[in-house]
Amino acid sequence: MIKKECLDIVQAKCENCQDCILGKTRNNVVFSDGNPETARIVLIGEAPGETEDETGKPFVGRAGKLLNQFLEEAGISRQDDLYIINTVKCRPPENRVPTDVEKALCERYLTAQIDIMNPQAIIFCGATSLKSFWSDKKVQISKVRGNWFDVTINGKTYKAMAIFHPSYLLRNHSIEEGSPRRLMQQDLAVIKSEILGDKMVCSTESHNQEMAMV
Ligand code: URA
Repeated sequence: MIKKECLDIVQAKCENCQDCILGKTRNNVVFSDGNPETARIVLIGEAPGETEDETGKPFVGRAGKLLNQFLEEAGISRQDDLYIINTVKCRPPENRVPTDVEKALCERYLTAQIDIMNPQAIIFCGATSLKSFWSDKKVQISKVRGNWFDVTINGKTYKAMAIFHPSYLLRNHSIEEGSPRRLMQQDLAVIKSEILGDKMVCSTESHNQEMAMV
């Protein structure tokens, strides 16, 4: 079976899931985005927000738009290179952080997605996503981001990296050397060159000017 067919089976189960209370308030299950047949990287975010809940797609609100800009600048195709998922598939009310119980009850979908995708790398986007798989729950994303580490999921070890969450970058506009936005650019450039191969895109300077306005 091709990956998409396997994922469709998991998605069908997930669409009917009422394992936790998020099932009661969601409008849509937010299962994934990207082409599973071409994606070599799985990117894991935190949880769907309002726009994601309305559309059924991850990272389509303000944070998602900023993420798209960074990806584009790095030469990473959201549709072809990434398979995007979240630690939980349903929106937590008021966009609160998902609880440990909600994450635990949703984990079987997440691990099934990773198993089927068998990615070359996993990108943990933001602290909630990172902490779901990092043993020290006090880990600071600012300390570990940008460095490759190994993560073992369902007995299989993957190469992984944490990056800042775009919501954090929406609150941090600086594009000075060493700023979170600059570090995000650096991290995505490493991911691009080491996982997807180098293929240069457009000038960082003009993108920085555009992004400073977001
Ligand atoms: N933030 C996330 O972590 N995931 C989404 O899908 C949207 C915003």
